Amino acid sequence: MHSTDSSPAALDYRHVWHPFTPMLLWEGEGAPVIERGEGSYLIDTGGRRYLDGVSSLWVILHGHGHPRITSAIERQAGTLCHSTMLGLSNVPASRLAAALVNIAPAGLEKVFFSDNGSTAVEVALKMAYQYRKLSPDPAERRRTGFISFRNAYHGDTLGSVSVGGIDLFHSTFRQLLFPVKNAVYPHYYRDGGELPREQYLGKCLADLEAVMERHAGSAGTLVIEPLVQGAAGIIVAEPGFLAGARELCDRYGLLMVADEVAVGFGRTGRMFACEHEDVRPDFLCLAKGITGGYLPLAATLTTTPVYERFLGTPEKPEVFYHGHSYTGNPLAAAAALASLEVFEKERVIDNLQPKIEQLARALKEQVEPLEAVGEVRRCGTMVGIELVKDRTGKEPFAPEVRFTRRVVLEARRRGVILRPLGEVLVLMPHLSFSDDELSTLVQVTAESIACIWREVNV
Ligand SMILES: Cc1ncc(COP(=O)(O)O)c(C=O)c1O
Repeated sequence: MHSTDSSPAALDYRHVWHPFTPMLLWEGEGAPVIERGEGSYLIDTGGRRYLDGVSSLWVILHGHGHPRITSAIERQAGTLCHSTMLGLSNVPASRLAAALVNIAPAGLEKVFFSDNGSTAVEVALKMAYQYRKLSPDPAERRRTGFISFRNAYHGDTLGSVSVGGIDLFHSTFRQLLFPVKNAVYPHYYRDGGELPREQYLGKCLADLEAVMERHAGSAGTLVIEPLVQGAAGIIVAEPGFLAGARELCDRYGLLMVADEVAVGFGRTGRMFACEHEDVRPDFLCLAKGITGGYLPLAATLTTTPVYERFLGTPEKPEVFYHGHSYTGNPLAAAAALASLEVFEKERVIDNLQPKIEQLARALKEQVEPLEAVGEVRRCGTMVGIELVKDRTGKEPFAPEVRFTRRVVLEARRRGVILRPLGEVLVLMPHLSFSDDELSTLVQVTAESIACIWREVNV
């Protein structure tokens, strides 16, 4: 491309370094440059429309350009775009804190704002750590360590990476990280597992308990993605595991950090994943969909007992030394309040159930029977399709085949945006997708998998 070319694509190739992207291959993939969003569609600079099949990386909930959210942002922009939360407050952030407390599991009463999922977790980790340090009990002060799960993903800042467990993303940085104890995240039981189902949950919880027991003197906090490990490839947990883990936390005196960055705000069919098993974590991390996906914002909710330990005494008041420039940004908070209004006015959660059933049916009929499909995993509207060379032995494709990546490019040619996670294809429709849009999403996914399968097997 000529260096005087000032088209957005040319400027992108020349200057932009894309996240989680092999830049060597980037130009060859001819990625569209998106100019507009309309409902469930993204529209590129050439006017081509694409169904947004991954909710723009799991953030968009009610579609692009929802008038209630865009006008809330416009109104707020005319009033106040930013003011710091250090030493001051602002109107939408205060209202949003109250609204979040109102919908969160009971007992989570204090809200600390930041601006993305990684920092929502980072804040919880640092709070849990300092909470232990502030204890009057010397034994408790030693319990500053963390237990997290293999294949977990909690974001890209170094604290969040420390409690992560995906080698591909995390192993490079291992020496920069603090050590954590790992437990096994139990996949939803499948026939063919080595144990009968009724024993499976018990064994998973016994394994977790063994880790807690072994490290009872040093580990004081469990970090978990409730119900679904998202970035691991939409790994759906065995039902009952979350509630069981909460019970174990209580028994062994651990705090629970529930990272609902991916699963929160309706994705699993309830407002929060913790609701499915009636669990109240000690920290609830929210981001991604919190603003309906329109502006960056995150919140870490915690309990009054945790908060009160940070008060200290009049002689020695304590401080939580953490805060970002854009913490509690009023534009983002106004968008988040408007998104919560959409949930209420449009009865989003109630209307979701038939869509989830439609999605499940379509996947079963059109995707599960395909040769290249090893497994279809789903929780609510979150879908992971594991693509394999041989479905009997679950043999993966050789990396150089780039099977899943090719399926994503094929789907894009057919007007649907998808995203690979290793050899797992992720579907994450907006909660507002119509029946027709859900059908198109599944149909194009199935056709694209079948097309690349034929190409590879000629
Ligand atoms: C469970 C979970 N936690 C944290 C994050 C990090 O969020 P962000 O990319 O906004 O930093 C993600 C992102 O995918 C996530 O899935």
